[in-house]
Amino acid sequence: MQVWKEYQSKNQERFLNELLDLLRIPSISADSQHKADVARCAEAVRESLLKAGADKAEIVPTSGHPIVYAEKNVDPKRPTVLVYGHYDVQPPDPIELWTSGPFEPVIKEGKIFARGACDDKGQMFMHVKALEVMTKTGELPCNIKFMIEGEEEVGSSNLGKFLEDHRERLKADIVLVSDTSMISMEHPSIESGLRGLAYMEVEVTGPNRDLHSGVYGGAVRNPINELCRMIASLHDEYNHITIPGFYDKVKVLTDEEKKAINSAPFNQKEYNEELGIREEWGEKGYSNLERTGTRPTLDVNGIWGGYTGEGAKTVLPSKASAKISMRLVPNQNSEEIADMFRKHFESIAPKSVQVKVTAHHGGEPVVTPTDSLAYKAAAKAIATTFGKDPIPTRGGGSIPIVALFESILGLKTVLLGFGLDNDNIHSPNEKYDVANYEKGIETIPYFHKFFAEMTA
Ligand code: BES
Ligand code: MN
Ligand code: MN
Repeated sequence: MQVWKEYQSKNQERFLNELLDLLRIPSISADSQHKADVARCAEAVRESLLKAGADKAEIVPTSGHPIVYAEKNVDPKRPTVLVYGHYDVQPPDPIELWTSGPFEPVIKEGKIFARGACDDKGQMFMHVKALEVMTKTGELPCNIKFMIEGEEEVGSSNLGKFLEDHRERLKADIVLVSDTSMISMEHPSIESGLRGLAYMEVEVTGPNRDLHSGVYGGAVRNPINELCRMIASLHDEYNHITIPGFYDKVKVLTDEEKKAINSAPFNQKEYNEELGIREEWGEKGYSNLERTGTRPTLDVNGIWGGYTGEGAKTVLPSKASAKISMRLVPNQNSEEIADMFRKHFESIAPKSVQVKVTAHHGGEPVVTPTDSLAYKAAAKAIATTFGKDPIPTRGGGSIPIVALFESILGLKTVLLGFGLDNDNIHSPNEKYDVANYEKGIETIPYFHKFFAEMTA
């Protein structure tokens, strides 16, 4: 709509500067030293919602980091959209690999570089600015609720309780989330699924203390060697995961689903070049898009033990540890998979070591419908502002709270993400293209408009 477009272009520069201000706050949820920064960021988000025209916006404390909750009501007869996002960010390490400060945002070649630029401050803030565009032009088509949390990157452990405690307040017709990616500006797409997650930590203990690797080496089992052998055995020669029962509940794709997934544009050569890898890898019998979108995985995220300092120290260590995550797909269940992992990992350990397995946070996989009115409204919004119909894709990432929107609130979700896979989220030099930020602000109001029209 012309009024929206005019308002946005008149305020373009301020919209960008306000995002940069938000990016300057190091709201690292994992790091307790930044607790005050996280709280300060919540307050900044609350104020921005009020300025954008929300009727009320409040900080809801939790036993972890606070949730920002806001509402803008226009008419009880109109539908209500619940917008979810997160204002917390991942730690910036390794800091030396950044070309500019992670919390000193800069714009280079049309890209905003900062931790959280894409995940998720940039994407979340598009909704705040879209609210402003709609309220200041007097063209707000539906009621909007905002729930912006500060613990997504550490597992959203307090948000489930918030949903349970506020079912009435959170009543809505659909959840709208921008925290995923699309293929490219030329090939806009909408993710129609997220993988689940089971995150484990293992510790293997051998002798009761670190030993001289000459005096004892060869006669005492080395826990690092053993941990590596155990981890290596978790995949077979076809890169299938060897945990018994692991695939039992995995939904087999129909030929139609396979075809739809593989019809998205994808170029393996460009993919390899962009990542600096020489050849493709993955589970035998599946394409790259099937592997990331529809198949479960098991990956070591970190491994440590023994001596890792400067120079060489000869030691046969007492302990070795690793953090191992599994991405899950429908209909796997994170607790069942965590149990299977534990039993299997304990069973493959030789008597000469002891194994301790602990589970960290988990989350369930989701598939969001592509035949719903909400999806159609999102597709029409994209078609309006991009001039092209979006391609439905399956995302590989996880947003564990999305499954709880359905199980606790009975709400479906639309994943209207504008990030790109090469935005370096969770990596050094995270970026978000200014063009994507602006396209998002332009597209979101159309979602509200079409959703209100379609459900009227
Ligand atoms: N926004 C991401 C998830 C994502 C990224 C989904 C790209 C689809 C495409 C989210 O902030 C995230 O990083 N989630 C974590 C899980 C969480 C429990 C720490 C993840 O996927 O590792
Ligand atoms: Mn995110
Ligand atoms: Mn993230």
